Amino acid sequence: MTTPGRADLVIVANRLPVDRVTNPDGTNDWRRSPGGLVSALEPVMRANDGAWIGWPGAPDDDLEPFVEDGLQLVPVHLSAQEVEEFYEGFSNGTLWPLYHDVVAKPEFHREWWDSYVTVNRRFAEKSAEVAAEGATVWVQDYQLQLVPQMLRDLRPDLRIGFYLHIPFPPAELFSQLPWRRQILEGLLGADLIGFQLAGGAGNFVRLVRHRVGHKTHRDLVYLPDGRTVKAAAFPISIDTAGFEELARSEAVQERADEIREALGSPRKVFLGIDRLDYTKGIVARLRAFGELIAEGELDVEDAVFVQVATPSRERVEQYRILRDDIDRLVGRLNGDLGQIGKPAISYLHSSYPREEMAALYRAADIMVVTPFRDGMNLVAKEYVACRYESDGALVLSEFAGAADELRQAYLVNPYDINGIKQALLDAFHAEPKETTRRMRAMRKTVVEHDVAAWADKFLDELATGRHEHDKSVRPARRS
Ligand code: G6P
Repeated sequence: MTTPGRADLVIVANRLPVDRVTNPDGTNDWRRSPGGLVSALEPVMRANDGAWIGWPGAPDDDLEPFVEDGLQLVPVHLSAQEVEEFYEGFSNGTLWPLYHDVVAKPEFHREWWDSYVTVNRRFAEKSAEVAAEGATVWVQDYQLQLVPQMLRDLRPDLRIGFYLHIPFPPAELFSQLPWRRQILEGLLGADLIGFQLAGGAGNFVRLVRHRVGHKTHRDLVYLPDGRTVKAAAFPISIDTAGFEELARSEAVQERADEIREALGSPRKVFLGIDRLDYTKGIVARLRAFGELIAEGELDVEDAVFVQVATPSRERVEQYRILRDDIDRLVGRLNGDLGQIGKPAISYLHSSYPREEMAALYRAADIMVVTPFRDGMNLVAKEYVACRYESDGALVLSEFAGAADELRQAYLVNPYDINGIKQALLDAFHAEPKETTRRMRAMRKTVVEHDVAAWADKFLDELATGRHEHDKSVRPARRS
């Protein structure tokens, strides 16, 4: 057993909440890391005064623990080869496409798996060093699924939670994985395993029963050593009040007006904001919009589509191909459909701070979120949070986790281009009374279920589970 450290709450994620970037003059700076995971957990960390273990985002950085912007950060080092095999390889070339309905073809390579095991062990060892006696350690996402069991072996005194931010696939897909059993056993090291949706939790419990052979009953798994593991849904959310406050600020309102003016003050602004990822359905939505303009259903005088695509995983082949596809499509659509000073699509390949995102949300009449598969999609919730006057419309894929809660969005099947076109038109022509009715209902959901409520619920359950499970009487008959 490793000697305990000092932190009572430890968050373990592949990335630190900040990325180390090297400036052209050779100096280094810290920049907020991309993606929904960091946006969701940062407020939780601030409220709990814990330590965050993660990778600083560049290879071969060997850094000591440090405090940045009030957060206690503990870097984990990855070599250039590990970035290639663990991060770009197994995490994003195998697990990411496999867990997202094989939207792209997952690759299975034994060296990638070996690297995944090595790096997971490093994260587990670092967690064992940092956590105080009896501390709570909360492990995050698909990059670190072996950490719970590795950590339990090192520190049986800890309370260990795991949360998967992306979908957990059905058995038919998961079973392709040559290392399926090891992954399931790795996760079972946790006391509580959280998923975005009940479907994911159900998939996991069924797989454990069939592939590992443990007894299960509803959302509980009974291990031979007497431990009980719970697997349940905890749909993640955002800092709703924080976004609304930002949206109400004068600076953001002014910037939103500026954006609309720069776009030529069209009647309606459509907006997409995504990491540049093949799961997000960016091409499908731009094609749908392009066809509406080409067919005369919409006019570039009246409507413009702003698409922000944040650079992501740029060394992975599939992401490069997608970037080229989008570049080509936007070029063609603007060439065919635009007029001088009025492109059909305003495309930005860049990442923006929260203030600029809030201004974009304020400037947009119709937010378009069309992933083929998405764990939750926080952008959809952020848009709703920023529409404090209950105006604006949300077009949302049925295959985003957010669609389970945001039922009043214009829901679409992202594989059905005609369906997307119809939803864009419906949102464009909707009476304000109708959009207000829908937005009001969605705002209620996002205000009531914010990220603080999400974290409290998970951490409470993780803490109380200890007593309940210790005393729990096993049911006589288990399914
Ligand atoms: C998603 C994942 C996160 C990941 C983020 C950004 O939100 O669930 O685990 O950190 O994307 O991706 P990246 O590969 O840049 O960390």
